Amino acid sequence: MLNIRCETVLDYPAIAGVNRLAFGQENEANLIDKIRFSDRYIPELSLIAEINNVIVGHILFSYIDIVNTGTLQVIGLAPLAVHPQFQRQGIGTALVEAGLKIADERGEVLVIVLGHPHFYNRFGFQPSVIYQIESPFPVPDDVFMVKPLKNYQPKYTGKVVYPATFADV
Ligand SMILES: CC(C)(COP(=O)(O)OP(=O)(O)OC[C@H]1O[C@@H](n2cnc3c(N)ncnc32)[C@H](O)[C@@H]1OP(=O)(O)O)[C@@H](O)C(=O)NCCC(=O)NCCS
Repeated sequence: MLNIRCETVLDYPAIAGVNRLAFGQENEANLIDKIRFSDRYIPELSLIAEINNVIVGHILFSYIDIVNTGTLQVIGLAPLAVHPQFQRQGIGTALVEAGLKIADERGEVLVIVLGHPHFYNRFGFQPSVIYQIESPFPVPDDVFMVKPLKNYQPKYTGKVVYPATFADV
């Protein structure tokens, strides 16, 4: 049975393992480590999915900025990884839904993701340009998406700035 819960220190190696397998590289596992040791880390929003106490998926949400005349703090979703042998069984969906619920309950405002529209549209993510939010990367409009939460206000417009921790990904 699938269980979703917050990560603990004991989970760190298994989380890194799932990310390495899902992405086929070290970058995302390294990114997670760097975020954990930064002021952008939100312990409540680093979630694991486990089946019979084995970690098969992980999602991390952390603080990023929208810069306009001032700087506003929002949430970035990255990375999300499901062990290759467990993909397409609803685990990624369950992790995103659990994280969005916690973010909403915490009173966060907006979640930003760079990813596959086919996967993220189902959760209510839409191209950021609709909300006058600009990607920091030269990517097609439909892959840079936002999901406003209950506390969203229209003042959240501007350019997204990722912390330097993201530079290597
Ligand atoms: C993307 C990922 C997290 C999805 O997790 P999952 O547990 O396989 O997803 P679910 O079973 O909940 O949902 C499957 C749906 O996502 C879609 N999906 C999965 N991977 C996809 C991809 N690479 N591109 C587009 N759609 C994808 C499937 O087509 C399926 O859609 P459907 O319901 O219309 O058939 C997982 O495939 C993964 O870890 N991939 C490698 C790492 C990665 O690319 N992560 C970045 C996410 S932006």
